[in-house]
Amino acid sequence: MPFRWNPELTMQDITPEEYFLERRRFIKQAALVGAGAVLGLNPLTALGGESQDDTATPYEKATHYNNFYELGTGKDEPAANADKLLISPWSVIIDGAVTRPGKVSLEELLKPHAIEERVYRLRCVETWSMVIPWQGFPLRDLLRRFDPQGNAKYVAFETLLDPQHLPGQTRKILDWPYREGLRMDEAMHPLTIIATGMYGRSLPNQNGAPLRLVVPWKYGFKSIKSIIRITLTEQQPVTSWNQMAPEEYGFYANVNPLVPHPRWDQESERRIGEFRRRPTLIFNGYGDHVAGLYAHMDLSRNF
Ligand code: MTE
Repeated sequence: MPFRWNPELTMQDITPEEYFLERRRFIKQAALVGAGAVLGLNPLTALGGESQDDTATPYEKATHYNNFYELGTGKDEPAANADKLLISPWSVIIDGAVTRPGKVSLEELLKPHAIEERVYRLRCVETWSMVIPWQGFPLRDLLRRFDPQGNAKYVAFETLLDPQHLPGQTRKILDWPYREGLRMDEAMHPLTIIATGMYGRSLPNQNGAPLRLVVPWKYGFKSIKSIIRITLTEQQPVTSWNQMAPEEYGFYANVNPLVPHPRWDQESERRIGEFRRRPTLIFNGYGDHVAGLYAHMDLSRNF
């Protein structure tokens, strides 16, 4: 699921009134600089993107129509089984081609001044799409703390492996744990974020708590949930869907209406909560910012 960024939003657009009390530290920080100016101060504001109606998907829909196979393959199962994912304590290992490999706890990662969280509104696409107001931080802010080495060409991500609690992991639906990967330049792009919350709240378990990747210009399966390990590698890492069905799911998975999936075309999408279909935009409308990453690649082969 890719995402769309709308620079004209105010905090009121992003955070419905009833959630104000649940806002966390980053929202408080935001308040210090004036609600409406939050996005204006964000360096990503300049990124813009093609304009579309980006009304946020209702919270109920975004949290009850999910893909999270560890919690079941039905779209409603991740919400129903959400409490089976145990997210406290949580830590993430960062290792591989970094000078200072290590493990960081969630508390450490999110303690005041450790990392600057921001507010984003992005659109996601699979065969359906949603607009989600995320909170999070650029992945690169995290990676830089561990000092990537020159031979780091890719970043591999892994989800928690816990078959005792996660019902989906007792079945061989995928080769667990769920794995994803990015090329280093994709990982270091400022639109690649680690989400820690949405709609002004903590991230619901079914949406990938407590740390989940969001890559706005790629299909949803790249957005790996509940990350416990990030490894910088020299070789292109194995990724779950590419391993499972390489002819259907490429490593790159950039949103591309010109390249049909073997079992469906990718020219249009239905926004959750709407009936009409919208034309799908190449790179989900973020081409101005990310097309350069793929300038020398044949995207019909590197799909
Ligand atoms: N991450 C894990 N660990 N397990 C999964 O099954 N599904 C992926 C992705 N991340 C998945 C995952 C797929 S196929 C999609 S479309 C998105 O999560 C769905 O995210 P959403 O439920 O928040 O919309």
